[in-house]
Amino acid sequence: MATHRLLLLPGDGIGPEVMEEVKRILAIIEARGILSLSIDEGLVGGCAYDAHGVAISDADVEKAQAADTVLLGAVGGPKWDSVAYEHRPEAGLLRLRKDLELFANLRPAICYPALADSSALKRELVDGLDLMIVRELTGGVYFGEPKEITDLPNGQKRAVDTQVYETYEIERIAKVAFELARVRSGRVTSADKRNVMKSGLLWNQVVTATHKQGYEDVKLDHMLADALGMQLVRAPKQFDVIVTDNLFGDILSDVASMLTGSLGMLPSASLGAEDENGRRKALYEPVHGSAPDIAGKGVANPLAMIASLAMALKYSLGKPEVADLLDRAISQTLADGIRTGDIHSEGTTKVGTTDMGKAVAERFEKAL
Ligand code: NAI
Ligand code: MG
Repeated sequence: MATHRLLLLPGDGIGPEVMEEVKRILAIIEARGILSLSIDEGLVGGCAYDAHGVAISDADVEKAQAADTVLLGAVGGPKWDSVAYEHRPEAGLLRLRKDLELFANLRPAICYPALADSSALKRELVDGLDLMIVRELTGGVYFGEPKEITDLPNGQKRAVDTQVYETYEIERIAKVAFELARVRSGRVTSADKRNVMKSGLLWNQVVTATHKQGYEDVKLDHMLADALGMQLVRAPKQFDVIVTDNLFGDILSDVASMLTGSLGMLPSASLGAEDENGRRKALYEPVHGSAPDIAGKGVANPLAMIASLAMALKYSLGKPEVADLLDRAISQTLADGIRTGDIHSEGTTKVGTTDMGKAVAERFEKAL
């Protein structure tokens, strides 16, 4: 059995607390012989700044480069508010994204049946929702040049942002979407504005051409990005994988995550280029931050972090069936009325981080 190299970067605040619960699940996975793992740990964020004076050390970046999968808790906190801009905790995360070339941001919207009543939409529209937005992260209008504000002779100002996409950037994100669809329901919807943007036209053409390069088993649809926004709120369950550019992906993924009503429970992933063995660099992390207001109290919800491990099992570690069991253990724990404070409601049992982690671990182990 091949050994997978895992790097854990717990980070700051509640990061280390929720990472403990991931370690509990990893221990079960190893003990049952599901995967052979070599697990290392490193520092990122404020804790790295305290130890080394930088938000991530070169040595830890190298560990991340060498790892098959990186799991990150969260970074940041008021303790580091006055630290120089380039050493802010977030700088560690940005450096990882840049050095590992993590160009694909995966943001699922998952609505656990037990929590469907906290959504902004009616229960029947979101109950059991599980869609994935694949957002291009390193190109497009946030990075294109020229990007400037200039003074005009008439005293007014002129602002320019430039949307630039090249074939290879669209091709590689399309491949990520098609590969994900294969371990999901096999459907991809690509969103662009080909009717008014040249970059949208190229997006559409390249996604279509990439589909023909060995991905025809996946069903591909195209939708205009604004129409997709409407459909996302009208009938979100029609979608499985949505692939789109940096700007549209930023907006659509935030909309999608609100459909679930449990922002604090969502995992995410950032995927990078394939290495010589066809493996993608990958970093998995919860969407939430370091929650300084509850850090150290043992009350943080570990489910977003555990769901991030489930994503890693599915998309990087080649164990989609084990990922499904872990997702089901999370769902079952919620259905059994076990809740941390952030999602607690009348008639459910309030527990802390450790007991929540143990509840999921027990159900997961039983299902294996
Ligand atoms: P946050 O996500 O840390 O917290 C927002 C609210 O949600 C807080 O009331 C918090 O207690 C609660 N919350 C978040 N995660 C929770 C969990 N797992 N269980 C229970 N409650 C939870 O966002 P905020 O307050 O804006 O930022 C706090 C720090 O985290 C800042 O330094 C920020 O820069 C950083 N941050 C880091 C991110 C990352 O590491 N990727 C992402 C977002 C923020
Ligand atoms: Mg956003």
